[in-house]
Amino acid sequence: MTSQAVVAANGISKNFGSIRAVDGISFQVMLRECYGFLGPNGAGKTTAIGMVYCHTPLTSGVLNVFGLDVREHSREIKAVVGVTPQDNNLDPDLSVIENLVVYSRYFDIPKKEAERRARELLEFMSIDERRKEQVTKLSGGMQRRLVMARALINEPRLLILDEPTTGLDPQARHLIWQRLRELKRKGVTMILTTHYMEEAEQLCDRVAVMDSGKILVEGPPRELVERYAGRDVFEIRRAEDNRVLLRLEGLEFSSERAGDTIYIFSRDGEEIGRRLLSIRELEVLHRRANLEDVFLRLTGRELRD
Ligand SMILES: Nc1ncnc2c1ncn2[C@@H]1O[C@H](COP(=O)(O)OP(=O)(O)O)[C@@H](O)[C@H]1O
Ligand SMILES: [Mg+2]
Repeated sequence: MTSQAVVAANGISKNFGSIRAVDGISFQVMLRECYGFLGPNGAGKTTAIGMVYCHTPLTSGVLNVFGLDVREHSREIKAVVGVTPQDNNLDPDLSVIENLVVYSRYFDIPKKEAERRARELLEFMSIDERRKEQVTKLSGGMQRRLVMARALINEPRLLILDEPTTGLDPQARHLIWQRLRELKRKGVTMILTTHYMEEAEQLCDRVAVMDSGKILVEGPPRELVERYAGRDVFEIRRAEDNRVLLRLEGLEFSSERAGDTIYIFSRDGEEIGRRLLSIRELEVLHRRANLEDVFLRLTGRELRD
């Protein structure tokens, strides 16, 4: 079973003092798979992936990466892993290309080779024209692309991305998605965290939804949507619960009230749609269920942090 597992986590936990940031989770990431961690702020996503790239020591549990125990083989693991941390942590005193070349020293890459790879990666991430500039002059999107280029300098077999596109505009986000898909086609295994459900649906073969240090559910995005949100969603604004729900009696659905909206979730929305239409002056939005529905149903609508 584990022969194809690039990452195998068995009951791993991390305590920071009295805070249990990761609480006994188990998961596997298979070769060439893109695996996503979703979850509200503070869920434990960054801590979980930090353990995988040997940045955060485990409190308990067993974690193997490429068949190697993170407790004993951090050097070997770090050599074949690329990381895009949540914060860019570029060196502000260095130029764009120097940031890559200096970083490559961690991997004992000869300077000539490092420069060749740096140019190639800057090209790949569409920032080569800016290679001589100070990183502080770059936009947020360019800095993020540079951090991605840096993560690739050691030609990693496993790429770990902590919120790769948070705060970026749609153009920058889509470019990053394209590049990640290219890397995946080339055989790179990936783990990412994201707050963008569309990102998870676009990139991830499987996702884990985390909250309070635990994995609540795991699976392919489509299966999770089918299982936890159904197929059809009706959003009904500014209506009394009774006025709507009584009309749907006898049908199979679940409902939820949040603020000014009643949500109706169903596997077969046709009859529900017909009955809602028969209610006068009802403001209804009918759409397909998506991963955001799953996320909110599992982790709730309460604000975090
Ligand atoms: N270095 C740290 N020291 C103390 N507490 C931490 C540290 N890193 C994370 N935490 C706490 O662990 C929990 C999980 O954090 P984190 O893994 O960053 O979650 P996420 O990435 O899902 O937002 C939070 O309560 C956070 O405050
Ligand atoms: Mg985080």
